[in-house]
Amino acid sequence: MKEENYTLITGASMGIGKAFAMACAAKGMNLILVALPDNLLNEVKNDILSLYKVKVHLFSIDLTEDYAVTKLFAFCQENRFSIQMLINNAGIGTGGKFENIDLDKQLQIINLNNKVLVRMCHYFLPLLKKQKCAYILNMSSMEANLPLPYKAVYTGSKNFVYAFSLALREELKNGPVKVSVVCPGPVVTNPEGLRRMEAHGSRAKLVVLMPDEVAKIALEGLENGKTIIIPGKINWLLVKISRIFPTAQKMRLLERLFRVYSTH
Ligand SMILES: NC(=O)c1ccc[n+]([C@@H]2O[C@H](COP(=O)([O-])OP(=O)(O)OC[C@H]3O[C@@H](n4cnc5c(N)ncnc54)[C@H](OP(=O)(O)O)[C@@H]3O)[C@@H](O)[C@H]2O)c1
Repeated sequence: MKEENYTLITGASMGIGKAFAMACAAKGMNLILVALPDNLLNEVKNDILSLYKVKVHLFSIDLTEDYAVTKLFAFCQENRFSIQMLINNAGIGTGGKFENIDLDKQLQIINLNNKVLVRMCHYFLPLLKKQKCAYILNMSSMEANLPLPYKAVYTGSKNFVYAFSLALREELKNGPVKVSVVCPGPVVTNPEGLRRMEAHGSRAKLVVLMPDEVAKIALEGLENGKTIIIPGKINWLLVKISRIFPTAQKMRLLERLFRVYSTH
């Protein structure tokens, strides 16, 4: 059987992950889509196949379970999928005062956002290295640069993804695998996201993007070999400005802006 190239996307059943799947299919990429077991992945597959002539394989699993990544890797090996692009998109978060949020919930965020992402890179890197040219795109957040009070663990987890990706990219710079990290600001992916944006008022609309915009910009950046991708001109500017702001002042301002999360 001839090996075919695939793009593997985690968290592809909705939100930004689904937008990545649609954007990759539009570029003619075959896909392996991963998400929790439910019907949404099937809907994404049907949407893609109704529009594009690509192959789509689904793998439904809770990636935080023991051996989930091992099983996903075995599935790819058994089917002789050769992976050319890995998009580590799956991630969760929560808001509220650190001390009031259930510890298991916080540890689950670290588990999916960090442990699973590291496992994915570790397992799939040898397959990616077999390609002439291959890509890893890791999903961080603007919050990696702007640590948000009342989202302490989420912010910390995205900071890990950011630093890990930069370091891994440098380690791999002389090989075929290019690593990029994408740092979106707020993206409206569900009714909760819309509610949060409305809670912040009109200023939020300046920085909010839609999932398809983020996916398009991130894929372009990845393929052009960009290290850090910050979708949206205003978001990019905010990150740049934040780097020259004194930390104490920046954190006081962020605490005031994000106090709305403190009572969640
Ligand atoms: N939305 C934003 O404002 C924003 C901003 C910056 C960065 N990000 C990051 O972008 C990524 C996607 O965010 P989103 O808002 O698009 O998320 P979303 O709409 O909540 O979708 C999350 C995706 O991850 C999957 N998933 C969740 N837990 C999983 C698990 N344990 N195992 C396997 N799959 C799992 C979900 O599958 P099911 O459908 O089966 O639940 C879904 O496909 C995340 O890493 C997030 O941190 C988001």
